Amino acid sequence: MSKKVLVTRIIPGIAEDMLKQAGFDVTVWQGDRAMTKDELIEHALQANILLSLGSNKLDRSFFETCKHLEIVSQFAVGFDNIDVAAATDYKIPVCNTPDVLSEATADVAFGLMINVSRKMFYNHKLILRGEWKQFEPLKNLGFELSGKTVGIFGLGRIGSIMAHRCKGAYGMNVIYHNRNRNIEAETETGARYVDFDTLLRESDILSVHSALTDETKGLFNKHVFSKMKRTAVFINTARGGVHNETDLIEALQNGTIWGAGLDVTNPEPMQANNPLLEMPNVAVLPHIGSATIEARTGMARLAAENIISYFQTGKPITIVNPEVLHYK
Ligand code: GLV
Repeated sequence: MSKKVLVTRIIPGIAEDMLKQAGFDVTVWQGDRAMTKDELIEHALQANILLSLGSNKLDRSFFETCKHLEIVSQFAVGFDNIDVAAATDYKIPVCNTPDVLSEATADVAFGLMINVSRKMFYNHKLILRGEWKQFEPLKNLGFELSGKTVGIFGLGRIGSIMAHRCKGAYGMNVIYHNRNRNIEAETETGARYVDFDTLLRESDILSVHSALTDETKGLFNKHVFSKMKRTAVFINTARGGVHNETDLIEALQNGTIWGAGLDVTNPEPMQANNPLLEMPNVAVLPHIGSATIEARTGMARLAAENIISYFQTGKPITIVNPEVLHYK
C-alpha cells in the first residue's frame, strides 16, 4: 500500500508530481487559508506523512495525537511552529527547506534597507494621497549607505548573503553577532565578530537573520533599542517574535532609533491601523521573504525530496533532528 502524504496548503505542483512519481498517495488540502487545528488533526490521522507549512502549529499535543506520523517535512526554513523536542520524543524526523530561499530573503532585507534609508514607501504614500506638489529641497531627506556599518544578527545562510550584498554594493563595514563564530562566513564576507553590545553600539543598520528560539524571543526590546545609535535602522526579515513590537513603536516614536524595515511582524498579520504603517522612516512587508518563483519552487522540491530520500535511503536531505535517525 502506498504511503499517504497530507500537504496542508496548495504549494507549487512540483512537490505533488515528484511524490506521486515516487509512488506516494498525495492529498493536498484545497483551502485558501491555514487548516484549523481540528482540521489538521482530522486529516493528519488519515496520513502517514505530513508536508506542513509554518502556519500549522505542531505542538506536543498534536504529536501526542499524531504519533503515527512517519516524517514531517516542512515547506519553510523556519520551524518555530513545530515542537521539535516532542517530535523527537516520538522519533518523528522533522525536515525544513534551507538554502533554496536564502537569496530571495536576503534580497528583501537588502531592499528594506534601501527603502527605509530613503523613506521610499512613505514618499510613495504622499503621491497616493495627492500630497506631491513640488520638488522639496529640505523635506523627507534620507541617508546614504556607502561606508556605513551593517550589523548582522545571525550570520548564517541568509545573513551571509546580506553581508555580501552590503559589502559588494556599498563597501559597507560588516560586523556580526552569533551564538557561535562562523569562521567560514567571516572569511567569505570579511565580517568581524563582535559581542552583542558592540553590535548594538556600532551598527548603522542592524539586520536580524536569526531563528526564533527561547534565547531570541523578544530579544529586541526597549532595553536593547536604547543601546543602539539614534540614527540606526532596525531590519527584521527573520521572525516577528524576535522583536517586541510595542517597544519598537515606542523606540521609533521617541527617536531612540531612526527607522525600521520589517518583513515579519509581531503579531502576524499586522493590523492596518498599526502606527508603524504611518511612520516616514518605516517600511513593512507582509512576510514575503521567500516569495519568488525560484524560492517557492525550490522549497516545494526540497520538501518532496526530503520525504522521498527518507523512504528510499533512510536519510532525508535536510533534517532538523538527525538524532531520531539513530533510533530507527
Ligand atoms: C519563511 O518564513 C520560512 O521560514 O521559510
